[in-house]
Amino acid sequence: MDQVRSSQRLKCIARLAVAASALLATALHAQTAPPPPPIMLGTAWYPEQWPESRWEADLTLMQQAGVHMVRIGEFAWSQMEPSEGHYDLDWLDRAVTVAAKHGIYTVIGTPTAAPPAWLTQKYSETLRVDEAGHRAEHGNRQQFNFANSKYRDLARKIAEQMAKRFGHNPWVLGWQIDNEYADVSYDPDTKAQFQQWLKARYGTLDNLNARWTTSYWSETIFDWSQIPIQTKYGNPGLLLSWKRFVSDTWRSYQKNQLDVIRTNSDRKQFITTNTMGWFDGYDHYVVERDLDVAAWDDYVGQGHLDAAKNGAAHDLTRGFKGKNFWVMETQPGSVNWAPVNNSLDKGEVREMAWHAIGHGADVVSYWQWRSALNGQEQYHGTLLGADGTPVPLYAEVQQLGREFAKAGPALAGTSVKSEVAMLHSYDSRWAIDWQRHNKGYSPVDELVSYYRPLRAICQSVDVVEPVAPLSQYKLVVAPGLNVLSDAIAKNLIEYVRQGGHLVLGQRSAMKDDDNGLQPQRQPGPLTDLLGGRVEQYYALVDPVPVEGKFGSGQSTLWAEWLSARDNDTEVLERYGRSNGWLDGQPAAITRKVGKGRITYIGAWLDDSAMATAAKWMADVSGVKAALGAVPDGVEVYPRYGQHGAVYILLNLSKTEQTIPLPSAMKDVLEGGSKSSVTLPQYGVAVLSAGR
Ligand code: GLA
Repeated sequence: MDQVRSSQRLKCIARLAVAASALLATALHAQTAPPPPPIMLGTAWYPEQWPESRWEADLTLMQQAGVHMVRIGEFAWSQMEPSEGHYDLDWLDRAVTVAAKHGIYTVIGTPTAAPPAWLTQKYSETLRVDEAGHRAEHGNRQQFNFANSKYRDLARKIAEQMAKRFGHNPWVLGWQIDNEYADVSYDPDTKAQFQQWLKARYGTLDNLNARWTTSYWSETIFDWSQIPIQTKYGNPGLLLSWKRFVSDTWRSYQKNQLDVIRTNSDRKQFITTNTMGWFDGYDHYVVERDLDVAAWDDYVGQGHLDAAKNGAAHDLTRGFKGKNFWVMETQPGSVNWAPVNNSLDKGEVREMAWHAIGHGADVVSYWQWRSALNGQEQYHGTLLGADGTPVPLYAEVQQLGREFAKAGPALAGTSVKSEVAMLHSYDSRWAIDWQRHNKGYSPVDELVSYYRPLRAICQSVDVVEPVAPLSQYKLVVAPGLNVLSDAIAKNLIEYVRQGGHLVLGQRSAMKDDDNGLQPQRQPGPLTDLLGGRVEQYYALVDPVPVEGKFGSGQSTLWAEWLSARDNDTEVLERYGRSNGWLDGQPAAITRKVGKGRITYIGAWLDDSAMATAAKWMADVSGVKAALGAVPDGVEVYPRYGQHGAVYILLNLSKTEQTIPLPSAMKDVLEGGSKSSVTLPQYGVAVLSAGR
């Protein structure tokens, strides 16, 4: 009897607690939350892994570190829907509410990257099938089938419940759909969807057969159902189509949740997903189209920050929406998945955060706050130890928190503007990667080889898709633009005709929109504009010497023998003695077209020749350094707003550097007006040139 009474009492207390927290939630909702800080520190927090009695302590420590945002929920489906149709979002609501009490905003992740066991057991068709035909099992994440309609139903339902609950909560800034889209399914139903997708794209089999040249190897398709899925050695038209289908399928997978969130939430709550830098599993330009903000997960893994490669990935992400973005995850020192999970040096985490802000990030969020005591990622870097107290890095993040608060007002409303754009194309990367022809030929490395010196010279570069508007750029560089659709060709021709300078790199314009060879030599439809062409390409075992306007250097991996057809096409660089074919032949050519210019570089230039080439590109295009010359190893990141420019300066070199400024500027972090700044290794300065 006593037991019954005490259990009734407990139930009553529990009900009262829920009612009290609902009241608190209503009270907090009723207030409108103050606007979030313009630049924010955040962390991934997993309240479901800890007793609620611990939450206050965590949030207090976050608050003391200057953290203003937590991302929560993205793997907690089994806690949100413990059995089909029975939703429990009360705990999530309490977490949002307690965070708000500490001035911490929330981004809510939909949990669809980690379906519960009851779901995949009951609906086994929702589990993805790998290329070898094996169905995934419960116990890891990303085991779902992205094309499966039952999975989409269940995903939409949980997203709808969440949006109804949090869509008007002023402390919820926005939504992250799923987590790092990556693994796809090769099951028969997905294959049938692919075949339907092809039918919609090509209309008739005659058209498809012609565009894929299926007379080759008896590949002729007589019925749509005969089309296989191939990912590595298939017909190039089929390979590219599969990737495009995957991109569209991720887009519709995302839209399934996005629409229901949109319908049930305030327009000021943003919707995003977290991408993975150079990951090319799908065309991000397609999938990002429906989102409000781009966000990515920025991990160094083994080693240290490579400012150019990482910076180009920031710029790539900024280019998805053409505006400031979020770093949704970054490593608090180290990861758990690299061959060696070394820690970043003392000061490097802070430097990396400012590097992100310099490239246009408005939020830097650490993954993760504290490791789950069990689970697959126990060794990953965190801000708290397993004992729940700060690790040494916490103090560095706390310093960042103070600095973000100081610099926020100066950086509010500022964004990146560049005179130079680099064109990045998933179609072209895929096309080259399937047939590298030289195993060392990495399209991303090729892009970065241009980006590195160009960024150092110009101090700001955009990375955009080839059909993006280009008229605001003085210089557009397209290394490895292998697949050239008619729309891209039109965009580029117009850009040059209107006075821009287009630089094409190796392997440009070799393929058409179906990944077939262009029926002209490279650069295909741009040949007349260039007044020259590629006579032949050579994969290289040994480097080939080059000499000319870019100094003397070497071409490695690849060399294209160019020819200048028109009298006004100038040869910039020639190959030295090598395989006989290339000896003395043009390696780079350029032609003025009215006020514009088109250049083709057929060599993979070594660092020093590339630096000279980049300087030539900038000079001839009238591109200037945003702040002026700075010592080697110092990087400058300008952000512009209504009140003028803010410059973020980093010392990436190993020694102290003094940087003279072109005019006196306000030192935002240290205070006072400065005509030069001195930075130690990993040193950061934020300078405001405006009012
Ligand atoms: C990814 C995931 C996170 C976590 C980290 C670890 O970015 O989104 O859930 O696994 O990697 O580095």
